[in-house]
Amino acid sequence: MASKGFTVTAFNRSYDKVERFLEGRAKGLTIRGADSIQALVESLEKPRKIMLMVKSGQPVDDFISRLVPYLDKGDIIIDGGNSQFEDSNRRTAALSKQGLLYIGTGVSGGEEGALLGPSIMPGGDEKAWPAVKPIFQAVSAKVEDEQGELNEPCCDWVGDGGSGHFVKMVHNGIEYGDMQLICEAYLLMRDLLGMHADEIKAVFDDWNTTELSSYLTEITADIFAYKENGEALVEKILDTAGQKGTGKWTGVTALHLGVPLTLIGEAVFARCLSAIKEERVDAAKILTGPKAKFNGDKQAFLNSLKDALLASKIVSYAQGFALMREAASEYNWQLNYGAIALMWRGGCIIRSVFLDNIKAAFDKDSDLRNLLLDDYFSDVVMSAQNGWREVNAAAIVNGISVPCLSSALTYFDGYRTANLPANLLQAQRDYFGAHTYERKDKARGEFFNTNWTGRGGDTASTTYDV
Ligand code: 6PG
Repeated sequence: MASKGFTVTAFNRSYDKVERFLEGRAKGLTIRGADSIQALVESLEKPRKIMLMVKSGQPVDDFISRLVPYLDKGDIIIDGGNSQFEDSNRRTAALSKQGLLYIGTGVSGGEEGALLGPSIMPGGDEKAWPAVKPIFQAVSAKVEDEQGELNEPCCDWVGDGGSGHFVKMVHNGIEYGDMQLICEAYLLMRDLLGMHADEIKAVFDDWNTTELSSYLTEITADIFAYKENGEALVEKILDTAGQKGTGKWTGVTALHLGVPLTLIGEAVFARCLSAIKEERVDAAKILTGPKAKFNGDKQAFLNSLKDALLASKIVSYAQGFALMREAASEYNWQLNYGAIALMWRGGCIIRSVFLDNIKAAFDKDSDLRNLLLDDYFSDVVMSAQNGWREVNAAAIVNGISVPCLSSALTYFDGYRTANLPANLLQAQRDYFGAHTYERKDKARGEFFNTNWTGRGGDTASTTYDV
């Protein structure tokens, strides 16, 4: 913010950190320090705009309660951390009752984004937006506008309550999916094709010039080039993943809303499976599988792998946008999906050229039920599907675990199946619990119960869906 000409007051619980900051990176910039909450508040012009960047959960509530006694009606509190969207719903409503305006905003882009321009996804009390908009849109990343100028801010108003944090949560879930897909492609290159770091780097560099061009593809190529004592550092890193919770929340929310978000769910579980390293090491001694071997055309397989990655990525975004659609209807948010794709187009971790096509799909049809039904995406997925199937088949035959590549294909096949086996499932539910079923030869909404065993009588349970 200071680098864009805004004056900023910095506050931290430990004032020595503020002092170090003022003497260090903040030197020469329009940044001053405050040694108390009162001093922080008094240093600001009204309406005050106070942005918190603290750990999600209780620390945000604690900070808000310390701030509120010093604030005046109309002042604005902004939470820029990765907060749970229900918390932001609650805080927006509670502060509004006290005459204070709350914004819960997603901010993505890591360290580089913080300095050069992140993607910013604000939601909350819309009355705060006019005062915050000029600052956020000045500091956010920019992408090309229709005239080809770098003027389009990767920041716009998302919607009421916790919708900004909801969109950021989905962004992070998609981030988990993109990362796991890349990891599975790497595993196939390493364990099936027997490729080394330098060769793998070259493949990611190449993919980065195609529809797969993205920040994550680019940094993956860089990672494979990084050497420590002549060896690729990545191969020395323990294969056990950490996580701070946003992927898990995306999965939990999808279960809650009944949206099949299979790929992101698998990406979260893949991290959980990686985390039980010692158990896997023991299991590897007992549970043997096929020895991976490849004798086909390596370049042809790499082309199929690229197709598999692209098609799976489309499925993941299709699922993520379907989740946002369902949430919008559940929470009464007016989400603009094209604008969300644009906010993710630059600055953030999942930024990629691919988001232009998503924006175009929603600009064409703002009510699009599933990205897979858009002409562009259906063509891409259908022409990628042979390679996608070949890669999954090879992974399964060779005993290589690819949870995201395979769940994406299975979702695609399920989504395009007009006649799934849930008729049997309904029969089973009715058989053991008289849960009733609908019939293909009757109108929707009419429910039937059969006395399957002759011992069931005519008692049926009521029907409801969670
Ligand atoms: C971003 C990131 C960021 C996230 C980290 C860590 O958009 O800049 O999504 O918000 O906190 O990527 O997430 P995990 O620890 O869960 O991997």
